[in-house]
Amino acid sequence: MNTKPSSRASGHIVILTGSGGSAESGIPTFRGAGGLWGGHDVMKVATPRAFCAQPQLVQRFYNERRQILLTKEPNAAHHAIARLQKEHSGRVTLITQNIDDLHERGGSPEVWHIHGELLKSRCTHCGMIHACREDLGPASVCPSCHGTGRLRPHVVWFGETPLFLEELDARTRDATLFAAIGTSGLVYPAANFVHIARSRGARCIEFNLESSDGVFDEFIAGPAAQTVTAWVDSFLGHTR
Ligand code: APR
Repeated sequence: MNTKPSSRASGHIVILTGSGGSAESGIPTFRGAGGLWGGHDVMKVATPRAFCAQPQLVQRFYNERRQILLTKEPNAAHHAIARLQKEHSGRVTLITQNIDDLHERGGSPEVWHIHGELLKSRCTHCGMIHACREDLGPASVCPSCHGTGRLRPHVVWFGETPLFLEELDARTRDATLFAAIGTSGLVYPAANFVHIARSRGARCIEFNLESSDGVFDEFIAGPAAQTVTAWVDSFLGHTR
């Protein structure tokens, strides 16, 4: 079976990335050996309740992640996805569960961060979202309402609703090709995108070190920086 549709036959590609896509940039994945959640109780650092109970602990957790992120660089998978977005003759929708900005720094013109963005803050009082590269804490001042100690990381915690779902459900229903890159598929509603795409007849491809389940038409094994780059090159008809 031909698994490499021509990019000249324009179609809508929907890509969903997870933490495996940033692993080769040196950002730990969430689950598995050495994963980010391995050393932390999710309920103590990534829920609204935790933020209410221990705001300093939660802020410190995200402050550390933010400072680490600022030292990291996009990898070849980020660059390849950006190239696909720019060069594919049809539409490309890039959905990410990652809160890092490596897709943007890799050149992606449009990124849908369904779990929010670490380099943004949100005011719990006025709701305004601002760029944020500094540590957040009780002395942080909202640039919009000027209230003190009201800023939180603009990330979606467990128990909160992911962003842009209505728009992205609609786009996924319109996909002709769906690619999941470096995600375990364990967290809903993101894990549902493949089911939506498949139910509408899209070809579904998984890029991962290990296959998550049997729902995809094709599984491409290996580290994303290699596999995604090779696939994009082939898809766009480039010679390597
Ligand atoms: N290349 C490709 N895949 C990889 C690589 C790599 N270099 N390294 C790891 N992987 C795969 C793992 O095999 C695993 O399937 O990436 C996946 C990472 O899975 P998770 O740690 O569960 O991360 P993710 O799917 O992004 O988690 C989803 O869960 O905790 C929440 O909000 C958090 O956005 C996150 C969501």
